[in-house]
Amino acid sequence: MNRPGRATAVAHPNIALIKYWGNLDPARRIPSNGSISLTLSGLETRTSVTFRADLPSDRVTIGGQPADPDAAARVIFVLDRVRSLSKTSSRAEVESANSFPTSSGIASSASGFAALACAAAAAAGLDLDAAGLSRLARLGSGSACRSVHGGFVEWIAGTDDVTSYAVPIAPPDHWDLRDVVAIVSRTTKEVGSSEGHRRADTSPLQAARVRQAPLRLETCRRALLDKDFPRLAEIVEQDSDLMHAVMRTSTPPLDYSTPTTAALRVVVPSWRAQGLAAAYTQDAGPHLHVICPVEHAAEVIRRVTAFPGVINVLVAGPGGAPQIVEGDRSG
Ligand code: PMV
Repeated sequence: MNRPGRATAVAHPNIALIKYWGNLDPARRIPSNGSISLTLSGLETRTSVTFRADLPSDRVTIGGQPADPDAAARVIFVLDRVRSLSKTSSRAEVESANSFPTSSGIASSASGFAALACAAAAAAGLDLDAAGLSRLARLGSGSACRSVHGGFVEWIAGTDDVTSYAVPIAPPDHWDLRDVVAIVSRTTKEVGSSEGHRRADTSPLQAARVRQAPLRLETCRRALLDKDFPRLAEIVEQDSDLMHAVMRTSTPPLDYSTPTTAALRVVVPSWRAQGLAAAYTQDAGPHLHVICPVEHAAEVIRRVTAFPGVINVLVAGPGGAPQIVEGDRSG
């Protein structure tokens, strides 16, 4: 058994440009299709893991409060994998805190489980490469496997636990894009993404969406590498629309939009037609992410802020990979 240790990691959330929706294997979160994202700066989760031989069970707090049973079970699933890889039996104390409120509408599961994977592996003395950290983060939240890299990232869907992990496409400084997030609601979401993924295959549209994903991934990857914004805008909006069409046609149906989300989705392409480089994308929540090159950010922020129904606006740029900020097996 390894000597118990402690480590703290900081990781960032990401915004999916090509979406992950639906699983081949829900337990291990092996996705039905690959996805592409941009890791976001500014927002972060800081997670400390301490393995202690004297603990009777794992203890998990988020923002100083005991984690709810679902979140705790997901954390323990990740810790169990770390224990099995490091031949450790010690239970762990996990303390996690986000720099952004959950009510901000930015999913904290990606940054949370990426930080957990990095901190737990370091605390257990495991020397995992990026693919190993990505697989570990994926067990807690699919999108978290992309947050183990900075910049532009692709999750290779794979077919099992070994082949499903994220790889970098380009570093954060490749293209200075902004994600201008229009916050349109203060209520937290009723149906979480795990339940949403379970419903995906009940939609008759999901098979077509999954079948054509490789083509959308290729188009998005090319547009990113070529910094071709018009091409990126088209594929990002189409992919978001396809995911929300699957949601709305699932049983039972899912619709995360408010009237403000829907109105903004109409107006953003019309701004583009007028020459403003901006494209929308929407995750499993009501807030609309407006992606734009930095040169257009001031005008996009101005228009999104002034849009009726928008409560406030968050702005993020390309962010880096997780960092270990404290300790490793200080035991
Ligand atoms: O990782 P999860 O289970 O929170 O799912 C994320 C799903 C979306 O945010 C809607 C899309 C994505 O690829 O991030």
